[in-house]
Parts: sequence; C-alpha cells; structure tokens
Amino acid sequence: SSLPRLFSGIQPSADSLHLGNYVGALVQWKEMQATYDAFFCVVDLHAITVAQDPALLREQTRRTAAQYIAAGIDPAQSTLFVQSHVPAHAELAWVLNTITGFGEASRMTQFKDKSAKQGADSTSVGLFTYPVLQAADILLYDATIVPVGEDQRQHIELTRDLAQRFNSRFGQTFVVPEVSIQKESAKIYDLQNPGAKMSKSGESPAGIVWLLDEPSVTAKKFKSAVTDAGREVRFDPIEKAGVSNLLTIMSVLSGTAIPALEDQYSGRGYGDFKKDVAEIVVESFAPIRERTLELLADPAELDRVLGGNADRANEVASATLAKVYDHVGF
Ligand code: ADP
Ligand code: NA
Repeated sequence: SSLPRLFSGIQPSADSLHLGNYVGALVQWKEMQATYDAFFCVVDLHAITVAQDPALLREQTRRTAAQYIAAGIDPAQSTLFVQSHVPAHAELAWVLNTITGFGEASRMTQFKDKSAKQGADSTSVGLFTYPVLQAADILLYDATIVPVGEDQRQHIELTRDLAQRFNSRFGQTFVVPEVSIQKESAKIYDLQNPGAKMSKSGESPAGIVWLLDEPSVTAKKFKSAVTDAGREVRFDPIEKAGVSNLLTIMSVLSGTAIPALEDQYSGRGYGDFKKDVAEIVVESFAPIRERTLELLADPAELDRVLGGNADRANEVASATLAKVYDHVGF
C-alpha cells in the first residue's frame, strides 16, 4: 500500500468498550481506514502494566478485537492485531528504554497520576516504561499519524523525541510521527459525573455506557443522566456540563450540528431530549452488539482472522526491528 501509515490501539482492560472509546476512537478509525494504511492494535502488553486476571485478559482481548470489527474496522482493509502476537513490540521497547532518560520518563504526567493513586509498592516498572512501549508500537510501523486524545499528547511528543534521538545517534531509521489530537468535540464525559471523562475505570457504574450493554440498560442510564436545575437544552460545557455532553453524543451519532439540536429541543425540557439521546445510542449500538456476539460465537474464525492480520503486522514490524538491531550493533 502506498497510503501513509496510521497506528492506534485500545487496552483490553474491560469486557466491553464504552461510548467514549466509540466516539473518540472507533468512529474516527473507521473513517480513516480508507485514506491510511492503518494498524489497529489490541494492546495487551500495555494492559498488564497493572495486574490482570489471565483468563479474563484472554477473554477481554478477544472481545475487544471483535468489537473493533463489529464497529466497522475491516480486517481485510486494515491490519487489526493483538500486540503480544508481534514480538517486535517488546523487543524494540527494550532498545528504546536504553535511550530514554530516567528523568525524562519521570516527567510523564500520566505515570505520575496513576502511580500516585496506586502507591509506589503496587506501581510496576512496566507502568513507568509504558510510554516507551507506546513509542515502539508507533515507530515499528513508520506511522506518520497517531490519532489520540489530548491526554496522550505528552507520550507522542516523547515518541518524536526518541525517534529523532535514535536517528541522530545511529543513523536514519525511524519516521518521526505527527501528533494528531482529536478535536475536543470528540470527548465524552461520564453521565453521572460530567466533569470527568467517560473511562473504563470510572467510579459510578451508571455513568459509563458500554457498547455491549443491553438496550434497556442503556435507556436507563440516559434517563438518570445528571443534568442541572434548569430546563434549557443549550451547549455550555461550564454551566451545563451534563446537557452539553448529551448534545455532543447526539450530534456525533446523528450528524446534526449542535445549534440545530438546540433549536429542535427549544422549550421541550430534558425528558424528551434524554429519551431521544438514548434512542439514537441504542440504534447505533444494537447492530454492533449483535455482530460482536456473532463473532464471539465462532472463536476459531476470529482467531484465524487475528492470526492472518498478525502475520501482516509481523512482516512490517520485524523489518523495522532488523534495521534497528543492525544499527545498534547486534
Ligand atoms: P479508557 O480511559 O477507557 O481506558 P483508553 O485510555 O484505553 O480508554 O483509550 C482508548 C481510546 O479511546 C483512545 O483513543 C482515547 O482517546 C479514546 N477515549 C477513551 N475515553 C474517551 C472519552 N471519554 N471520550 C473520547 N475518547 C475517549
Ligand atoms: Na490507550
């Protein structure tokens, strides 16, 4: 393929992906796969930087891959694979570890946040070097574009620094990727706590809308979504965070601009509005849920698809690694 390369991934750290992953990642990935030679990875090596149950991890990895496909990632057009199936990720990460400064890694704010929450004794060295593994993911595929959320900006900057450092120390090897931060409109917040982004590790179960929720469960979550004391459907992320989040969700899924939605619900209160948001989410998710369950019912076929895609990823990744090993003197 002569198209520019793209790399992105999600951790298999839950049974289901959520509305934030769908809007912030899958919808965009699906659009981009026609114009990029895209590598979409289920990053299980990243997932074990915090303790995982082995049987659950195996199951979640399959489920995550199935949801990629069900949401429209075409494994014949894009390369959809599991990170641990491609040994070059761990191998390149080791080499990059040796050119990463201890102080430089210590400045990563995501590590500082996560390790502060966990405490030093339950924080692994793997979590510390997580951004270096992420750099390896990207650099193995000569990715020129890495679509991520704002929270990942610092990690992509580190990837760029490491690529440039390696190139200047050992000779031209890596393509230096561009940071392509998704627009703020693609960020989805927790339905119960609209000040926090929707996340697999969110605190209130009712605040997270899972892609694989039953339709009745989805409807209930939207019915009890936090709004405010007013009754005006207006986009104002500061004063009306809950309502603005619902407007974003509806706008992204319906393709209708937010001002048009404000007009449509003018004078109608929150009840109708919430019901319609739930409906469009259920409509969007129902076929994906169905397809995911179909794919999971035939694990041999899913494994066959993932195996073929891993072969494709291995071909590209092992060629990059061979160049790296040669340049460092192996
Ligand atoms: P989580 O926070 O649920 O563990 P990840 O960190 O694995 O999610 O993110 C996977 C992808 O989904 C990334 O591209 C990230 O930007 C996107 N993403 C995660 N949560 C949201 C959200 N609330 N809104 C928009 N995009 C999100
Ligand atoms: Na991630």
